[in-house]
Amino acid sequence: MSTSTTTSAPAGSDLRPHVLVLFGATGDLAARKLFPGLYHLAGQGWLPEDYAIIGSGRHSPGTDEEFRQQVREALEEFGDDLVDDVLDPFLERISFCTSDADDGSDLAQAVADAEDRLAQAAGDEGTDGVRRLIYMSIPPKAMDGMVGMLHDTGLNERARVVVEKPFGTDLDSSRALDATLKKAFEEDQVFRIDHFLGKEAVQNILALRFANGLFEPAWCNAFIESVQIDVPETLSIEGRGSFYEGTGCLRDMISTHLCQLLGFVALEDPQCFDEKSVRDAKSAVFQAMRPLDPTRVVFGQYDGYRDEEDVADDSTVETFVAIEAYIDNDRWEGVPFYLRTGKSLAEGRRVITLRFKTPAGGIFNGDPGSNELAIELTDDPKVTVDVRAKKPGPDMELAEALLRLDMADHDYESEPLEAYERLLLEVLRGDRTLFTRADEVDRLWEVCQPLLDDAPEVKPYAPGSWGPEEALALPKGGWRLGSEHDHG
Ligand code: BG6
Repeated sequence: MSTSTTTSAPAGSDLRPHVLVLFGATGDLAARKLFPGLYHLAGQGWLPEDYAIIGSGRHSPGTDEEFRQQVREALEEFGDDLVDDVLDPFLERISFCTSDADDGSDLAQAVADAEDRLAQAAGDEGTDGVRRLIYMSIPPKAMDGMVGMLHDTGLNERARVVVEKPFGTDLDSSRALDATLKKAFEEDQVFRIDHFLGKEAVQNILALRFANGLFEPAWCNAFIESVQIDVPETLSIEGRGSFYEGTGCLRDMISTHLCQLLGFVALEDPQCFDEKSVRDAKSAVFQAMRPLDPTRVVFGQYDGYRDEEDVADDSTVETFVAIEAYIDNDRWEGVPFYLRTGKSLAEGRRVITLRFKTPAGGIFNGDPGSNELAIELTDDPKVTVDVRAKKPGPDMELAEALLRLDMADHDYESEPLEAYERLLLEVLRGDRTLFTRADEVDRLWEVCQPLLDDAPEVKPYAPGSWGPEEALALPKGGWRLGSEHDHG
């Protein structure tokens, strides 16, 4: 792997001046992730020297000063400790301008004015060197009109556009969304964001596998019995009832985040850590994925979900999904991949477990139990391997032992960037390696379509449990999380 996307270079000062336009700037994502991420990048010197941030949406939050105050409160609640030297110049560059699908003229004017200022500050003759980063944190149904507006106002020019998942709600709507985007943007302007790909630990999967002779040769069906990608969450839907009713767990987590993790675990050696190589390799995995079998999928809903605000009394929306998936290629033929995630579960974890086959024959013919390699996708990635060793004593008996690699024990020069931060930086740099491509999204909808056509019955489960009973027995040998092997 080359290291073309290390986080230390180029510094922000090497980046072109930028106008960032955030649609949905008064929303939850902007408050929790986007503004804190931009603020942190500003503090680290990773934003361009000359930039402006224009929040936009249908409803004005008041004057620019009042909007800045909102941003400040969001930073206080969700961001780093505030430092005046960083905060004041950051807030000064923020303004708000209303826009909607029918009228983007004020916004286009605000962007043009900002570009003039930035070009002047950078000593440029015209504004052609100023880039636009447009972040669409808006519901899928609003996309069509807003993209049309960007096209009509010319705001699509010189722009990179970031689109938030879910990308449509099924194959047809995803293709329609793609067609909409293609009317206004070239594919290389589009950044489909799946923030799991910005997590440091996810990229560590590639390092672990391809930089270690210990693991790569065993990463195939000759040695691996099954793979688990397990992302239980303790949080409930946390006031996002209307979003969740329209989306559900399959679209919110499985067809996006967990399948992207599967793509990273299962890909062939991309040879190079660049946009084309990584995305081609991941896309090949999805092409080889077998469409899901509804009889090997469990949907669940936690007791009490129907009492949440904005949730229908008779809702059958799933808040839990466990699936069995197969990749029909030489490397993975016959290896089941189990993906599980849900709200209001027993623990909040993100763990990938590779369960190895038990060595046949030999002196321990009595089945010593399988080894597991568990990769914990926390901010300080943890990797553990279950091994068997000789139990101390006069007899040749086996005991379970654990190899543990803890990145937090080391002192590295740079701290990991939060996922959104990392991905915002990649958009500014114009690198799409960690973003999903249209053909990946398309194929993943094809893979999930059998569940949309013939959804499994939704089984109830108690909050704080591991989901419906039916899901516990899905993987042969059970799930690692919640078992005695789990040392998390
Ligand atoms: C979001 C989903 O994309 O990811 C949420 O909409 C989910 O439902 C969240 O809770 C999980 O992300 P993270 O980074 O907190 O693990």
